Amino acid sequence: MPTDDLPIITTPDGSRTALSARYGEAYGSRHGAATQARHVFVEGTGTQEHPAPRVLEVGFGLGVNFRATVADAARRGAPLAYVAWEFDPAPVEVLREVAGADMPAVWAALLARWPDTAPSAPVHVEAGGVAVTVHFADVLEAALPQDWATALYLDGFSPTRNPEVWTPDFVARLAGALAPGGMIATYSAAGHVRRALEAAGLRVERRPGAPGKRECLRAIRVA
Ligand SMILES: C[S@@+](CC[C@H](N)C(=O)[O-])C[C@H]1O[C@@H](n2cnc3c(N)ncnc32)[C@H](O)[C@@H]1O
Repeated sequence: MPTDDLPIITTPDGSRTALSARYGEAYGSRHGAATQARHVFVEGTGTQEHPAPRVLEVGFGLGVNFRATVADAARRGAPLAYVAWEFDPAPVEVLREVAGADMPAVWAALLARWPDTAPSAPVHVEAGGVAVTVHFADVLEAALPQDWATALYLDGFSPTRNPEVWTPDFVARLAGALAPGGMIATYSAAGHVRRALEAAGLRVERRPGAPGKRECLRAIRVA
C-alpha cells in the first residue's frame, strides 16, 4: 500500500492517526487517538489493573492501541502478552510517523520485522516484558486461542464499512477466546453490536464514550 493512501492526521490530544483510503475513515478517533486507545480499550477491559494481561486485538492497524497497552504495562512493571490480527498492514514508515518519538524496545523490535507485503508469516517479538505476535491474515479465517484473552480489543473499521468483524457469528467466536472474567471492549455502541455481544453470552455494559462519542461498550465473560 503506498503511503500516499494513508494521510496522517494529528488529533487534539497530540497523538496521530491516519486516514484509510480503502475504508474512507480514520484508523483511530479524530477526536484523540491515544485518548480513545486508553479509555475505550485499555480501561474498557480493565487491563490497567490486571497483573499479567493477555490481549487479543482485531485490527492491529497503526499500533496505537498496542502502544497505549505497552505504556501502561511498562509503568506498572506488568508482563504483557499481545496477539493481534491485521490483514492489510500499513507501511512501516506510516507506523513510525504515527508513533513519533514514542519508541519502547518492543515497538522498535516489531518495526524492524514489519513485513513489506501481505500476506506474510506472523511476526513474534519479545522485549521489555512484552511478547507480541501479529498475524498478517484475515481474522475471520483464524484459529483463535480459546479461553485465553483477559482483554479483547474489537477495533475493526466501523460496522457499516467493515461489517464482517461485527457479525453475531464472529462475535460469538471472539467470546470463545476470552478467559473467564475476560472482557471485550469496542468503541461502537451500535444496537446490533450490543445484541451480538449479549447473544454470545456476555454481560454487556455501556460506558461513556471517548471524546466525540456518547457511549462505548464492554462485554464480560462472567463464567
Ligand atoms: C480501526 S483500524 C484499527 C486501528 C488500530 N487498532 C490502532 O490502534 O491503530 C481497523 C483495522 O482492522 C483491520 N481489519 C479489518 N478487517 C479485518 C480482517 N477481517 N482481518 C484482519 N484485519 C482486519 C484493518 O485493516 C484495519 O487496520
